[in-house]
Amino acid sequence: MIRFDAVSKKYPNGTTAVDGVTVELAEGAITILVGPSGCGKTTTLRMINRMVEPTAGTVSLRGRDIREVDAPELRRGIGYVIQHAGLFPHRTVLDNIATVPLLLGWGKKKARARAAELLELVGLPAEMAKRYPNQLSGGQQQRVGVARALGADPPVLLMDEPFSAVDPIVRAELQTEFARLQKELHKTIVFVTHDIDEAIRLGDRIAVFREGGRLAQFDTPERLLADPADDFVAGFVGQDRGIRRLSFVQAGGLPLREGPVLPVTSPVTEARALDEPWVLVVDDARRPLGWTPVADLPGSGTLADAALVPLGHTFNLVGDSARAALDSALLSPARLAVGVDADGAVVGVADAYELTAGAAPANPTDAAGSPVAADSTGGDR
Ligand SMILES: Nc1ncnc2c1ncn2[C@@H]1O[C@H](COP(=O)(O)OP(=O)(O)OP(=O)(O)O)[C@@H](O)[C@H]1O
Ligand SMILES: [Mg+2]
Repeated sequence: MIRFDAVSKKYPNGTTAVDGVTVELAEGAITILVGPSGCGKTTTLRMINRMVEPTAGTVSLRGRDIREVDAPELRRGIGYVIQHAGLFPHRTVLDNIATVPLLLGWGKKKARARAAELLELVGLPAEMAKRYPNQLSGGQQQRVGVARALGADPPVLLMDEPFSAVDPIVRAELQTEFARLQKELHKTIVFVTHDIDEAIRLGDRIAVFREGGRLAQFDTPERLLADPADDFVAGFVGQDRGIRRLSFVQAGGLPLREGPVLPVTSPVTEARALDEPWVLVVDDARRPLGWTPVADLPGSGTLADAALVPLGHTFNLVGDSARAALDSALLSPARLAVGVDADGAVVGVADAYELTAGAAPANPTDAAGSPVAADSTGGDR
């Protein structure tokens, strides 16, 4: 969709901002440009809408060299969002959002109707339409910035550190909202950040840049975590990449065993006969009630008389990730993760060692690239 062919940008002062980048950005996907300060991310982004012209190589959009496209025409199809939103301070929120439709000659009424629609789309209440930017929080301004960029429904969206000026909690909200929005809109998005966690959370593909404007690795988040190209990328991705990678592994494929699981109606003698330190007590639908330490069981009776220790949490075999499963093992008093089906019934158990062995990347390049939905650990990769 957007293709860079041996693209370089050397500024007149001798700085090489981008050095020989060749990369193809997929249509309808979020590509993240990430890397340390000064590595050429913004320059690369701006070469897509011709705010910066390359000194070598070719940028093309849907197979067409963008030098052949008139810059204003090109930009009509490309929304642009920057840090601090860059809103017009003397215009209301609604008029800010209506900027591009008005420029395109939609007429006031239609442009404002569209703006009102976009305000709702980005999760802001209608009553904010009449406010001025300085009457909004940073996070709200950022939402308005996104709405404004979507004004004429451009197929491509360029975003330069759109969420980096807000505090971590608002930032996480904006990221969640943005991911939801993209599920509806399927824009081709190029998103700059220097935050690798944001990149991994939001990206379908990630381009890691290094000093000197060189591309260090272009990959899915999963493969970046599992198989960084070199020490620079490994260092940039961070030390807990092994655990973060587990967010991309479906729990459904993990090896589970039957384990010490008994119905609450079972006699305590049966629990002792299993010769395990802990037994998981389940109800008549095999839903887990809690763990019981076998050493503390009463001399007779059933497991209904046993003292139960809370589970921590279970993990769902459909929808949860291996990271949620591992968390389930770590929180369990028996150190066993409990896997359940869609009805909450126990399917099996596994300890942390079994889970991580089952989730190891056999061949990193085969691994699935898309994140697992509805991760019970909150989806933070
Ligand atoms: N107009 C310019 N003239 C000269 N050098 C420039 C110009 N714009 C950027 N540079 C230099 O090009 C390099 C890349 O800049 P760029 O803005 O693309 O980096 P960045 O990765 O976006 O950094 P940051 O994370 O700090 O925003 C830097 O060394 C910068 O100083
Ligand atoms: Mg920048």
